[in-house]
Amino acid sequence: MLLSDIFEEELRSPTVFRDESKLNESYMPSSLPHRTSELRELIRLFLGLMKNPGEMSQRVTISGSIGTGKTALSKCFGKILEEYETTHNKNLHYVHINCRRKKSRFLILRQVVFHFNPTVPHRGYSPEELLYMLDCLLESQNAHLVLVLDELDFILGRNDRSLLYDLTRWTDEQLNGVQRVSLILIVRDRAYLKKLDASTLSSLQNNHIYLAPYSASQLVDILQERATEALFDYAVNSEVLNLIADIASERGDARFALELLWRAGKYADRDRVPSILPEHARLAKADVHPRVRKDFFHELSPHQQLVLLAIIRQLKKHEAAYTTTGDVEINYNVICEEYDETPRKHTQLWEYIKELEQLGIITTKISSKGIRGKTTLIGLPDAPLSLLEKELQNNLKEY
Ligand SMILES: Nc1ncnc2c1ncn2[C@@H]1O[C@H](COP(=O)(O)OP(=O)(O)OP(=O)(O)O)[C@@H](O)[C@H]1O
Ligand SMILES: [Mg+2]
Repeated sequence: MLLSDIFEEELRSPTVFRDESKLNESYMPSSLPHRTSELRELIRLFLGLMKNPGEMSQRVTISGSIGTGKTALSKCFGKILEEYETTHNKNLHYVHINCRRKKSRFLILRQVVFHFNPTVPHRGYSPEELLYMLDCLLESQNAHLVLVLDELDFILGRNDRSLLYDLTRWTDEQLNGVQRVSLILIVRDRAYLKKLDASTLSSLQNNHIYLAPYSASQLVDILQERATEALFDYAVNSEVLNLIADIASERGDARFALELLWRAGKYADRDRVPSILPEHARLAKADVHPRVRKDFFHELSPHQQLVLLAIIRQLKKHEAAYTTTGDVEINYNVICEEYDETPRKHTQLWEYIKELEQLGIITTKISSKGIRGKTTLIGLPDAPLSLLEKELQNNLKEY
């Protein structure tokens, strides 16, 4: 068979997807079932600011476990704010920053400054200078900023709390003048906030919105709504949606549920059948890990991936639940050679391990005192090692 014929055949093969991009993580749904009251609360907290910007600022924290809709809720509010802005011209700006991607105070502040002045140079400024620049920009443009720091756990877990200290102190200093900066802080685990120093903590006020994990029936509603947009009408029935919701309800995680639906759809397409069957959902469950999403590896740097590969190979080789940092380092150096990469130094390696832990992919604990004294043990509690290894190797090939 000619290659072009294979392509033609695939192109014409039936699909369950009307528009699969509607199941992407980046897609912003038009409504958020079961988060209406939280959205109302968020709007209520910002109503004073929206009506009279400059007279008050607001600080709100949002917490909830993985996939409970924290980012979606905040972005939905951002959309409302922007729509309000276009009709009321209050010079309100919503800036949403993911702290996992922008890993330092400098990168975060630069992105905020960039929003107001896209010609800001990529380097050459200290965070303090950027903060000063932002102050001047807001003042000269008479602008008001709602700054969202999403996945803030990442920064707090890295012991870099100075950003929040700077921001809260800076906004506190505006108390007597025009108040231009409000904050929405998003964390998975609220305990991280308790690590802040007392003055920063108290300045965060008491506006907190907690998003509880979704129940199975709530997940069914979320899936149903998204399925209507992403799949053809006949492509999925309630039995399958219930099954997927049941699987995902263990963690109450909407992202996991949506990815299961997407994978199940892919299995249906592979079998060239017009609708998703329960068996496709079961197959999807076997290869979607709640922590290791399809876009997961793209968020890791090549060396983070090499470290992860070292951990996986180490655990596989010894069929062990835990491995040590020392062994991981040895294996990492070997893998670097395999991929023709210069190994990073010990302290950098340690940073990577901490970041992988932050992402929830590995766990670490201190061993009880053994022959070689205390050491850090690294485990991958509930990830299928072979699946991860295969995906990592495929991904590393692309670099
Ligand atoms: N109530 C909802 N209705 C519709 N879709 C939802 C709802 N809650 C979450 N989602 C969808 O589920 C996915 C995960 O949601 P989101 O990214 O907001 O979770 P999160 O709480 O920010 O998770 P993480 O802690 O991993 O950042 C997104 O695709 C989002 O659109
Ligand atoms: Mg999020």
